[in-house]
Amino acid sequence: MLLSDKPHFFGRRKGRRIRKAKSSLLRDFLPRVLLDPEKPLNFGFKPQKVCLEIGFGDGVHLAGIAAANPENAYIGAEVFQNGIANLLSLLTGIKEGAEITGDIRLLPGLNDNIRVYDNDIRLLFPALPAASIDEIYLLFPDPWPKKRHAARRFVNPENLTQLARILKKGGKLQIATDHPVYKSWTLRQMHETPDFRWTATCGRDWKREPAGWVQTKYQQKALREGRRPVFLEYERQ
Ligand SMILES: C[S@@+](CC[C@H](N)C(=O)[O-])C[C@H]1O[C@@H](n2cnc3c(N)ncnc32)[C@H](O)[C@@H]1O
Repeated sequence: MLLSDKPHFFGRRKGRRIRKAKSSLLRDFLPRVLLDPEKPLNFGFKPQKVCLEIGFGDGVHLAGIAAANPENAYIGAEVFQNGIANLLSLLTGIKEGAEITGDIRLLPGLNDNIRVYDNDIRLLFPALPAASIDEIYLLFPDPWPKKRHAARRFVNPENLTQLARILKKGGKLQIATDHPVYKSWTLRQMHETPDFRWTATCGRDWKREPAGWVQTKYQQKALREGRRPVFLEYERQ
């Protein structure tokens, strides 16, 4: 990819100052779980499913589903450094303020089944083989509700082409949002994409959390503020 082709990322890469313990996690532990796009994906075991979470935020959903499904492998993509540091904190049990002595390890009992891509997922797409992913999660993506910002929305024809390419036939794309503009936008975009079939058969199917769901930070915020999220599941045809 030419440098001039690099897509512009409109979100935040950094938030509040990352303090000592989380800085150590980023410096010393992240390289252990970092995905190298130049190398074939290797988890050290043969996963039943390979899943991808795009924009995992503070990592609560990713860490939760990866722990609940140790037989699967997970790729998590996130640009926001504070969020990545939070995921690492969940994986190691090292919280801000902790004194780190010695090697940093995964919490006992966790399978080493997460690889982190610490950049814009669109830069990773070329390295992901066709039909290599079983499930994709896009949870509470930035809604960019203003009309003039619509081109920034992640659900768009270009990204959907890539998601359709990397998903296996019968694979699932799970999109959740609490924003009415993003909901209508997504329903329309997905309707116009012949590669995907909406699996809902009645209102309940998309207004309730799917079984085994782990709530994300943005979902919890939406619920606290009285907004009801929707859960749109699509199957790759
Ligand atoms: C509104 S937040 C939602 C975070 C999380 N999914 C949740 O529900 O709590 C959207 C996240 O997606 C990340 N993001 C947006 N576009 C991305 C991209 N192209 N590649 C990787 N991460 C992205 C942002 O950095 C941000 O942390």
